[in-house]
Amino acid sequence: MNKTRKLYVKSFGCQMNVYDSQRMADTLAPEGYVEISSAGAADLIILNTCHIREKAAEKIYSELGRMRRLKEAAAAAGRRVVIAVAGCVAQAEGEEIIRRAPAVDLVFGPQSYHRLPDLLARAERDGKAVDTEFPVDDKFDRLASPSSAVTRGRGVAAFVTVQEGCDKFCTFCVVPYTRGAEMSRPVIKIVAEIERLAEAGVREVTLIGQNVNAYHGEGPDERPWSLARLLARCAALPGIDRLRYTTSHPRDMANDLIAAHRDIPKIMPQLHLPVQSGSDRVLAAMKRRHTRADYLDLVGRLREARPDLALTSDFIVGFPGETDEDFAATLSLVDEVGYSGAFSFKYSPRPGTPGANMSAQVKEQIKSERLARLQAAIDNNQAAFNRSCVGRTVDVLFERPGRHPGQIVGRSPYLQPVQVEAPASLIGEIAAVTITEVASNSLFGVLASSSRYDTEVAEHSAPAWRHHSAHRTDPSPNLPSQAREKFERTGV
Ligand code: 5AD
Ligand code: SF4
Repeated sequence: MNKTRKLYVKSFGCQMNVYDSQRMADTLAPEGYVEISSAGAADLIILNTCHIREKAAEKIYSELGRMRRLKEAAAAAGRRVVIAVAGCVAQAEGEEIIRRAPAVDLVFGPQSYHRLPDLLARAERDGKAVDTEFPVDDKFDRLASPSSAVTRGRGVAAFVTVQEGCDKFCTFCVVPYTRGAEMSRPVIKIVAEIERLAEAGVREVTLIGQNVNAYHGEGPDERPWSLARLLARCAALPGIDRLRYTTSHPRDMANDLIAAHRDIPKIMPQLHLPVQSGSDRVLAAMKRRHTRADYLDLVGRLREARPDLALTSDFIVGFPGETDEDFAATLSLVDEVGYSGAFSFKYSPRPGTPGANMSAQVKEQIKSERLARLQAAIDNNQAAFNRSCVGRTVDVLFERPGRHPGQIVGRSPYLQPVQVEAPASLIGEIAAVTITEVASNSLFGVLASSSRYDTEVAEHSAPAWRHHSAHRTDPSPNLPSQAREKFERTGV
């Protein structure tokens, strides 16, 4: 038996990092590592980092300052603490991290997680270890699976990575450099992972990937399968009641995927479809490979397939060369689409990406002003969408206890959190809830007697909110800004 050691993993950034952190913990479990929720008592601390936006590296260095003090205090008490930096900052900075933060023992990129036990042994033997290769072997083949009890503890809604990396090379984005080329996992492996999750009680699965709808993994017939086909296969798995996928690129929204939103009821009516900008000039400079009209046409086709589809997006303001007119086009796009929510960011030059070397970088103050205006527009959209749900009955998958005793929280089909006074025994179940109130982006409701959600949704008719969201003028000062949630729910 290995001696028990304590592991603390802190994840930054996207859902894929959260998933990767879980898989690191799973890989280390057979080595005797037990995960704990704070750094204080840990023998091994892993910071799983994100490099996508501003000050990512600086944040990690200041976090490492705190970890160094913990390490020194532990050493004074005769206990060794190993500090590891993983993820995209590790990939981008490599050995530089150990030069700047000598307390770090181990640096490894997103493709090396399966080698963690070896890397730890190497760090123990040689003092330090760095691994930022893109190996040819498939890390997913080597990553351990969690036990049923561990899976249950992680909740009834799970993420499964089906695709990683990106070949799009949008000019603002560091992902193709840190996560590498696009690769898709084979269908059989994904299905096996979801079956294990379902056996442990998982009811909802979100398929994740940086460019998930470019999925083309090998099917059981040894031919590439599209994401739509994969979703259809997942929908047939017993125990899985809800499916989602994120993050999608508009160019890869194939016709069979659009049709899947019409034909597969288990695919929830919510889609994260980042547009980044509403201006064709900016979209071209970003090398997004689609125009505003392409995007709007796509939205139209998606809503034809699934009229109640709630759309969310990512936006960047202040991309180099963005004029007032370009920005006005983004604002008008927001109202034209009518989003149920969106994340918005100030452009941040990422070293090594084409955008960083473009002239006409936009002043910080202008970026801040535009961001505030965009967030107000998004908040208006979101408030309109949430208000349109009041009085409706929707299915909620209950995930955990609520903030107040007697309350439990779950998600609506549109991914909104819904708080309900109901027995904790309903956690893990789907129940029909009538929405009674909205506050701060949360919905409140009461259990409904019927088990199906409203006929409006079941019949796929267009919801009322889209018609009145476009010209709302009353800002909603109480709604939290989109930026705060950052990309809690996005795949990138
Ligand atoms: N600056 C600002 N936002 C960025 N994003 C990606 N790269 C940058 C950058 N350099 C945003 C995009 C993407 C989301 C995950 O992060 O909107 O969709
Ligand atoms: Fe790829 Fe998305 Fe980054 Fe574009 S923004 S390069 S599609 S990960």
